[in-house]
Amino acid sequence: MNILQTLRDRFAVALTDFTDEPQTFAAMVRSSQDAKFGDYQANCAMPLAKQLGTNPRELAARIVESLDVADLCDPPDIAGPGFINLRLTDGWVRQRTQSLAADLRLGVTGTPHPRNIVIDFSSPNVAKPMHVGHLRSTVIGDALSRVLRFLGHQVTTDNHIGDWGTQFGMIIYGYKHFLDADAYVEDPVAELSRLYRLVNQLCDYHETVEKLPSIGQRIDEQQRQLAAAESAESPDKSRKKRIKSLRADLALLNEARKTAQAKTEAIEADSTLKDLAEQHTDISRATRDETARLHAGDAENRRLWEQFMPQCLGALDSVYDRLDIHFDLSLGESHYQPLLAGVVRQLRDKGLATDSDGAVCVFIEGNEAPFIIQKADGAFNYATTDLATIQYRVEELGAETILYVVDSRQAEHFNLLFTTAQRWGYAPELRHISFGTVMGKDRKPYKTRSGDTVGLESLLDEAVAKAREIVVAGDDAKPDGPELDERARSEIAEIVGLGGIKYADLHINRESDYVFDWDTMLNMKGDTATYMQYAYARTRGILRRGGVDPESLRRPDAILQLSHPAERRLALRLCQLPDVLDAVATECKPNLLTQYLFEMAGDFSTFFEQCPVLKAETDQQRSSRLLLVDLTGRTIQQGLELLGIHTVEQM
Ligand code: ARG
Repeated sequence: MNILQTLRDRFAVALTDFTDEPQTFAAMVRSSQDAKFGDYQANCAMPLAKQLGTNPRELAARIVESLDVADLCDPPDIAGPGFINLRLTDGWVRQRTQSLAADLRLGVTGTPHPRNIVIDFSSPNVAKPMHVGHLRSTVIGDALSRVLRFLGHQVTTDNHIGDWGTQFGMIIYGYKHFLDADAYVEDPVAELSRLYRLVNQLCDYHETVEKLPSIGQRIDEQQRQLAAAESAESPDKSRKKRIKSLRADLALLNEARKTAQAKTEAIEADSTLKDLAEQHTDISRATRDETARLHAGDAENRRLWEQFMPQCLGALDSVYDRLDIHFDLSLGESHYQPLLAGVVRQLRDKGLATDSDGAVCVFIEGNEAPFIIQKADGAFNYATTDLATIQYRVEELGAETILYVVDSRQAEHFNLLFTTAQRWGYAPELRHISFGTVMGKDRKPYKTRSGDTVGLESLLDEAVAKAREIVVAGDDAKPDGPELDERARSEIAEIVGLGGIKYADLHINRESDYVFDWDTMLNMKGDTATYMQYAYARTRGILRRGGVDPESLRRPDAILQLSHPAERRLALRLCQLPDVLDAVATECKPNLLTQYLFEMAGDFSTFFEQCPVLKAETDQQRSSRLLLVDLTGRTIQQGLELLGIHTVEQM
């Protein structure tokens, strides 16, 4: 049962006497931040009174008169200018918590309106190294799919792998010209990714060399304009503004030139790279041709693609296995190739797509750039594929909702995509679940010392190695000596390390950038998985020490006493899991769940400090408190599991 929703429903009924929009105002019921204002708080009287031109406190009193919550709340209080404070009765909290004892789903009944939801996440580009941004998508998407499924939705997870892009032109070109055959036999994926990086670097070099003169010209031009503006007499306000903006532009251009020069100099300083660059001057065009040949069905390139794919997918799978993240479908971009010409034809027939400079475009008012669905050279692109994918998901999978867990930098693409799809006649609920960039401590996109974006595999290894140090140190420091053997230590380190990485991605509001920082990630005391895993292990330790079989607590006739405020606080928190999961599902924000678990772990600590459990005064109190301990452990475990994070019985 969702308490918040129940209270909102009750308010909606009461508010029909006062407004035509009862739902809007009922939505202003929140859980209180501070216990002194009760458990929940309704802030609707103030804005509604303003609308009606009456006194908010009096209106609050009238709302309370119409409000029927006596079965679950004490009589509501009206505070300050018209806040309505609600406190659940102790009896209600007690009964509700008791009813969780034997409930495997911890009170989560699930949605009355199940939907068919496709979640598109992870979706890396194969043959390019997968990076921390893809990890973020993978972890957030997996958590959302677990929560939505737990709530009873029909969820299909789909890894929309980039397996048809221009990187294949680069790899094919690299394979044909630069292959180190022994290295390829040894570790094909490593060799392919070396080839990719090499060809990419050479293409980039020539493109940069070509671009440099025009940057130079723009700098000269900008300087002329600046000099002219500066030499004018008695500069007025608008001229000052212009000078400022010219200077800013100039600074950017100079910066761009510096970066470009550094790039070309780096290649020229390396004699091997320099030679290769000189031998392959036409490499950019040549790689584009290789991609085009692949797309056109050239036998040799097709054979190479088929040779590379299983190796690349295998490497991805080993990362997914390790993360314990699995997909129902992995329909890559290549899957949609046969459909693309049809998509363009249908959009043309509908009059939605038109020719523009040789390309086929959908123009959407209010957007500067058109949505290009076929390039001037005839190639279909990312956009065409995404349109075909929506059609497929609606028609073949019956999708009513499609969630795209993708970097916020693709916002414009999704904006154009969704509008185009709707006009085309595909109108499922389409949502871009966007997330910010993963930053290093220097607030720049996270890179390794060598400057590469970090490869995932080594990142996971590092997390586990660091977790192992923490686990070993903790175990060695135990008052009665270490309790874990080597194997247990390694298993725990794997779970703590991977949990730490996942949690770090999840606990930040996804819309924000987040700073990747090893030091805070595995902190035992902070807002981390480690802290939560430790709290769980602690609940298990208490039961073990007390010789308590948890099953003996999980009975429908379990009896709870809530005599201490810390007990009540913890019990109320336990009752709120359904509220939180509904919010996670509506907003697609796993951080609401991490926040809840973090607060619960805090409530549990306070409870444990203030309320003796194994040494409780009476048997009834002891079993009541043990039940709270067990429920806390189960809720943390369930919550973490919904985030894709495992727990251990002992740390
Ligand atoms: N492969 C893309 C990238 O790495 C992400 C794909 C996201 N999904 C989609 N349907 N566009 O940027």
